[in-house]
Amino acid sequence: MNDIKLLFEPRSIAVVGASKDPKKIGHTFIKNILASGYAGKLYPINPAGGDVLGLQAYPDINAIDGAVDMVCTTIPARFVYDSVKACADRGVKYNVIITSGFSEIGDIATERKIADYAASRGMRVVGPNVFGVYSAEARMDATFGPGGIMPGSVAIVTQSGALGLAMIGKSKVENIGLSAIVSIGNKCDIDEADLLEYLTDQERTRVILMYIEGIKDGDRFIEAVKKATKKKPVVVIKSGRSERGAVAAASHTGSLAGSDEIIDAILRQNGVIRADTIQQAFDWCKYLGNSPAPTGDQAVIITNGGGIGVMATDACEKYDIELYDDGKKLKEMFSPVTPSFGSTKNPIDITGGAAGAEYNSALSVALDAKEIGASIALYCETSTFLAADLEKVLEQNHNSYELKKKPLLFAIVGGEDIENAIVKLGRKNVPVFGDVDEAVACLGKLYWYHRYLRYHSELYEDAAVPVAAITEICTNAIKQDRYFLLAHEAQKIMDLVGIPVPKSYIARNLDEAITCAEKCGYPVVMKVVSRDIIHKSDAGGVALDLEDRNEVIDAYQAIMQSCRAYKHDAKIEGVEIAEMLKKEVETIIGARRDQTFGPVIMFGLGGIYVEVMKDVAFRALPLSRREILNMIKETRSYPLLLGVRGEEQKDIDAVIAVIIKLGALISKCPAISDIEINPLMVYEQNKGAKAVDVRILLAKDERSTT
Ligand code: COA
Repeated sequence: MNDIKLLFEPRSIAVVGASKDPKKIGHTFIKNILASGYAGKLYPINPAGGDVLGLQAYPDINAIDGAVDMVCTTIPARFVYDSVKACADRGVKYNVIITSGFSEIGDIATERKIADYAASRGMRVVGPNVFGVYSAEARMDATFGPGGIMPGSVAIVTQSGALGLAMIGKSKVENIGLSAIVSIGNKCDIDEADLLEYLTDQERTRVILMYIEGIKDGDRFIEAVKKATKKKPVVVIKSGRSERGAVAAASHTGSLAGSDEIIDAILRQNGVIRADTIQQAFDWCKYLGNSPAPTGDQAVIITNGGGIGVMATDACEKYDIELYDDGKKLKEMFSPVTPSFGSTKNPIDITGGAAGAEYNSALSVALDAKEIGASIALYCETSTFLAADLEKVLEQNHNSYELKKKPLLFAIVGGEDIENAIVKLGRKNVPVFGDVDEAVACLGKLYWYHRYLRYHSELYEDAAVPVAAITEICTNAIKQDRYFLLAHEAQKIMDLVGIPVPKSYIARNLDEAITCAEKCGYPVVMKVVSRDIIHKSDAGGVALDLEDRNEVIDAYQAIMQSCRAYKHDAKIEGVEIAEMLKKEVETIIGARRDQTFGPVIMFGLGGIYVEVMKDVAFRALPLSRREILNMIKETRSYPLLLGVRGEEQKDIDAVIAVIIKLGALISKCPAISDIEINPLMVYEQNKGAKAVDVRILLAKDERSTT
């Protein structure tokens, strides 16, 4: 396999389709490569020969004497395959195919042929349908972009070429230097994971920005991204929502798990920062690439206005930034630098009269305080503090914070002078924003990333699973042509992995139903057992709280009648009689095998309103205990587990235990595709949780059961 380094640092480049004509893309390649100061060998290739921008053109790849590490292909689609063949035979290492007109317009066959031939000769292909590669390390602008890319520390990997070219332009305006930019286009060979491999270890790159539309090989991508985020921040703009969401309509987990939700959860879980807009992504990359790590968990806000201070406080809550709140200490620290009519409660209000000296004093107190991990300085334009002075003060403070390696950001709001100051300071890489939310978001992402670094190496949880016994249950069901398990089979599996379920029995007729109810002890629940009825409540197949023998008889008859009416040809095997549980917090836990990312788990508010409330969180397996708890905390209904209005806290440890066991079950039993417990009734602390209803779907791929 060729070293990926040769794509970013080739010793020689040939441009197939290099032209004298300045309007041609092949001409721009030669122009950009020369202008960027590339020091390696450069060979224009054109059948007409002659020279291109002073370089001798070769009629074909075989006319070149030395080795060629990289070829940029800029000829029409119909000639590409033959050219690729010649390059591959000639021992070229990387072929960057700029040409459009392959799988993106439906010609999958030619693209496949190109990829296969290249692979057979060990040549790697970027694209087709890409704008090329820029690498600051090699001082190589092998793109047909506008030229003049500023070298720096942000690497951009983009699936969209046009957006990539636009990002080159924007990076200049935003004063963001790039270490590399590459588009991956149709990804017939090289994909994001290959590029991450290089960028992760490349010292010049401090932040990686990726624009992704679809992920083909989820496992490999996640592996690569996980390695990258351990070393540097990765910011992803992921667009495109897939249709695949509602595949398994028979399970809530399936219908709630739109692939975007899963991707979102998995990206976060692996330390990736997801941005919604290009502006956000640029702001975050610039800030994360330049800022030191927070020196402590808590931040301080220093402001000359109360309103903007409150906005920043709200934003800190939104972006999960803790504010330092030891009132006594804050007073000690800040009262010498705050007017008596100001406030030393965080936000520190140095009041509207504050000018350079006041900001300098307050910011240096925060800089020296070991309790404070980062500072946010806010300024509303006033007549006492002129913009020219403001610029100086901001820059000076930025420099002192940088020297002592403590994060500091500014949000300044006002008229034209202030807007101009933002632009000027931005060019000097001073983190100044015209909006409080934007500034706080940057710091929030910095905190989030460093928290991730602190916790990612925790141990994964696991549980014992008797795979053989479980597979046997699944195989028996499949022999009956059933790809879901009946309630008693699912309960048996719960028993095998040690997830508590309510006492329950299967009755095939009314007499048995009565005997079973007596064995359970009243009150009981009765549910229809039928392979043809999956949503039992909808079919009128469930009766709750049956107090005695007579109620059991009535319920049995009612269930039979409504189920027949719901689906007249349904084969009804009988009813399940179970102990009636005291109602407590109803949660849902689902586990399924995602086509792209493998086993994933879902936790949320359960019961019958699952689909309406959609209060669920996802994670990819395996998981650490902290990540499981984070997933639980992410749901809006988490306070229900903590107990509301004087209720006792619920048994969160029991929920964690069920998640661990269910995770182990889906990971170790390929015969199972979906498991869902809804509700998992969660009792008070130390009283456990019970899986009231368990639904298990089997994988249709027969290989998985053998
Ligand atoms: N080997 C070497 N040179 C060849 C050749 C071959 N097999 N076949 C043709 N050429 C030469 C041509 O003679 C021409 O040179 P000339 O100007 O000296 O005559 C040059 O290669 C280019 O060929 P031409 O037919 O003029 O094509 P073009 O420049 O108009 O278009 C592409 C070529 C690749 C730019 C075009 O097909 C394309 O795909 N454009 C879209 C690119 C794009 O947007 N990519 C995605 C970006 S994100």
